[in-house]
Amino acid sequence: MEYQPLNPRMQVKIHPKNTFTIIMVVGFVYLAYLIFFESGDGMPEIDVNLKDVISYAVLAVEMGGHAVMKVDEEKNLNAAAKGLTDEGKEELLTRADLISNHLILDILQRFPQLKIVSEEKSSEFSDREIEPYRSDNYAVWQSVKEILDQIPNRRLQLSDVRVFVDPLDATQEFTEGLTEYVTVMACIVVDAEPIFGAIYRPFFNETVFGLQGFGVITSDGKKITPMDESKTAKKVVVSRSHAGKVKEVIEKVYGDKMTIEPAGGSGYKTLRLVNGTAELYLHTTAIKKWDTCAGDAILRTMGGAMLDLEGEPLRYSSADPILNKKGLLGTVRNPYTYFRKFQGIKLL
Ligand SMILES: *[C@@H]1O[C@H](CO)[C@@H](O)[C@H](O)[C@H]1NC(C)=O
Ligand SMILES: *[C@@H]1O[C@H](CO)[C@@H](O)[C@H](O)[C@H]1NC(C)=O
Repeated sequence: MEYQPLNPRMQVKIHPKNTFTIIMVVGFVYLAYLIFFESGDGMPEIDVNLKDVISYAVLAVEMGGHAVMKVDEEKNLNAAAKGLTDEGKEELLTRADLISNHLILDILQRFPQLKIVSEEKSSEFSDREIEPYRSDNYAVWQSVKEILDQIPNRRLQLSDVRVFVDPLDATQEFTEGLTEYVTVMACIVVDAEPIFGAIYRPFFNETVFGLQGFGVITSDGKKITPMDESKTAKKVVVSRSHAGKVKEVIEKVYGDKMTIEPAGGSGYKTLRLVNGTAELYLHTTAIKKWDTCAGDAILRTMGGAMLDLEGEPLRYSSADPILNKKGLLGTVRNPYTYFRKFQGIKLL
């Protein structure tokens, strides 16, 4: 039998015009697929420049911090018990926490759909009530602009990003007038990892930022690297509420080679590690992740980390609980080496 070619009229002609149409249709279907099926919640994926999220986070903590100072100047904190802490202590909430939170959320919400995890819920202040506490955006922006300009561009999917906010860390100390411990913090988390942290000390006008892969830098442009271990102060910073218990443990592990310093605020304690005026940060009770996130990001940037007292790095994904019940150990270097010294000792 002779080979019969197909009826030429049955063949699809790959004419340039047809090719174009096919490519268009396939392309369109693929795009639709990406938009509607790739992202879990049916929302189109939005990508953002990490640098922009960082800029807003920095602006937010400085705006929040300025408001904290203004409330403090009014001497009308309206401190009220928020309930009991996980340690069973009265937890305080002041107008400063709420106003700072309001201003911070105001700025971060300029990114529609950015997931924000804050210690405080949005407040019911009206714009008129908030206005006196709002500082000039532009002036604040100008003061950090040069630093932010150095940060490299990096695209991220907005749905992978969460921002943790602590509008006023060390509220207890704030109400006691111990303003050196007060910080305002924001932290950017991608998946489970804190990749950027900003800690602002409003009463000292200092901000420390840390971006993994970039470095740690202060608001006046100074790059911070870990202090030489031999020059680092042989100190352990620990919460004012449970210094006694940690003292025993430290004596057991280090004898008299380390001293304990009780201090307020997780942000403050982290800053002490950052400038080498303390070597170790220990916390032996429960702590919320917005208290630790920014500091953890900065420590990781320097080569350290916060580990829980089972030796695991703290995780910040939406599947991980906000309350860390396993305590923490933080350092700017070799966290596991430090952790091993405490193994077999009951810390929690
Ligand atoms: C706070 O610090 C920034 C940057 O270091 C500086 O530009 C600004 O003027 C300072 N603000 C005050 C009120 O001192
Ligand atoms: C280290 O940091 C703390 C907290 O920011 C600050 O109070 C202290 O003055 C700093 N010390 C030095 C020597 O830089």
